[in-house]
Amino acid sequence: MDLLIKNGTIVTSEETYTGDIAVKDGKIVSIGTDLKVDAKKVVDATGKLVLPGAIDVHTHLAMPFGGTVSADGYLSGTRAAACGGVTTVFDYPIQRKGKGIVETVQERKDMCDAEACVDYAFHCCITDLNGGAILDEFEDAVDYGVTSFKCFLVYKKEGMMVDDGTLVRILKRAKEAGAITNIHAENPDVIDFNIEQFKAEGKTSPWYHYLSRPEFVEAEADKRAVHWAKSVDAPLYIVHMADKEGLEAAVAAKREGHNIFIETCPQYLEFTCDVYKREDGRNFVCSPPMKDQESQDALWKAIMDGSIDTVATDHCPFQSYEKDWGKDDFTKIPNGCAGIENLYPYMLSKANEGKISFNRAVELCASNPAKIFGCTQKGSLTIGKDADIVIYDKEKELTISVDNMHSDYDHTIWEGIKVQGYPVQTYVRGTLVYDEGEFVGTPGFGAFVKREPQKYGLE
Ligand code: URP
Ligand code: ZN
Ligand code: ZN
Ligand code: ZN
Repeated sequence: MDLLIKNGTIVTSEETYTGDIAVKDGKIVSIGTDLKVDAKKVVDATGKLVLPGAIDVHTHLAMPFGGTVSADGYLSGTRAAACGGVTTVFDYPIQRKGKGIVETVQERKDMCDAEACVDYAFHCCITDLNGGAILDEFEDAVDYGVTSFKCFLVYKKEGMMVDDGTLVRILKRAKEAGAITNIHAENPDVIDFNIEQFKAEGKTSPWYHYLSRPEFVEAEADKRAVHWAKSVDAPLYIVHMADKEGLEAAVAAKREGHNIFIETCPQYLEFTCDVYKREDGRNFVCSPPMKDQESQDALWKAIMDGSIDTVATDHCPFQSYEKDWGKDDFTKIPNGCAGIENLYPYMLSKANEGKISFNRAVELCASNPAKIFGCTQKGSLTIGKDADIVIYDKEKELTISVDNMHSDYDHTIWEGIKVQGYPVQTYVRGTLVYDEGEFVGTPGFGAFVKREPQKYGLE
């Protein structure tokens, strides 16, 4: 054996028990109590939790946006991921007009081959059907291991938005190819209308970022997308759900038996729209914006009752000087916030506080992401799976600060937030990449996760 993790409290989405895990050639080969095996490395996990590594299914690394590029590239973003217990990241390459899917993804994969410190997969953002040729490429993309496509229902001026006609074509063909469609749901016309009015009235502080995209802006698009998905009986994954009304509509459709999956992000669980009234409100500008207390309460209720499927970060940080571009005009603030290193510690901290179970935290951050997105090798501590493992100390406290994170950004919205409990080690395919506060991995070690086509429906 290469590695034996002994006597830890093993936590899966279903069970919690004391045991040993043996690893060979990057895979979990044996689980039991008092395993009598020789291993090159033995780790005593007595008193610690042993968890599957998190899968952050929503990141934007080196993403061109708002006249700049997000502050974490594949190296720093995945380094930070490792240090937060994330063993696989999903990035969102954006198809440029006229380009194909495999071509778009390949370009990003080449960057990851050299830089990624943890494993990685891609959802491809479709911005243009190329006269229909893109739809004909879905099977090839699935064969390549990319089994999810994303539609932005906003970002018109950025050239990323798709209209409803494009959305429904993508939904239908994605399903036929064994893939799922992810959507960013906001109504672009309402946003533009609101912004025009606010600008005419000289209302340009970050608070108007929220007021230009309040709850119904998101709810309308959530509901529209759910209707379209139902109309062609296609699976739909709604990213960064932040509003109560849209959430309720999506949950209702799910209860009717439709394959609707819902993701939210830690920032919506922690912050409300009140942050936009702060002096540093621009740093919290992301889309959709944080919503009101009622929406946040609804998200937590859905986290607790099982109706939200995943929590992922939408990691897309920008440097302070870039956020400052919008000091006097919220429309000039690049959209996005940091989170990749905070996801698992934050959700596990909530488990530690008793708000959810550790099993549920694992389900939201590891096993459901793996199931929904066809990562058959990942997301669970079972024999035969990749040995993506986090050892977690419930007693360790950390106050998050830009100084103890491992990204390249110069500020974080999580500054000053305390988490109870923290990962002490992260293993990717049995290799230690994070140890007691330090990154110990190797850029380029991360491998592409070739995903399987899906029929959909979580068992
Ligand atoms: O504000 C955000 N979320 N920026 C990243 C792009 C997106 O919409 O997910
Ligand atoms: Zn988005
Ligand atoms: Zn929503
Ligand atoms: Zn995003």
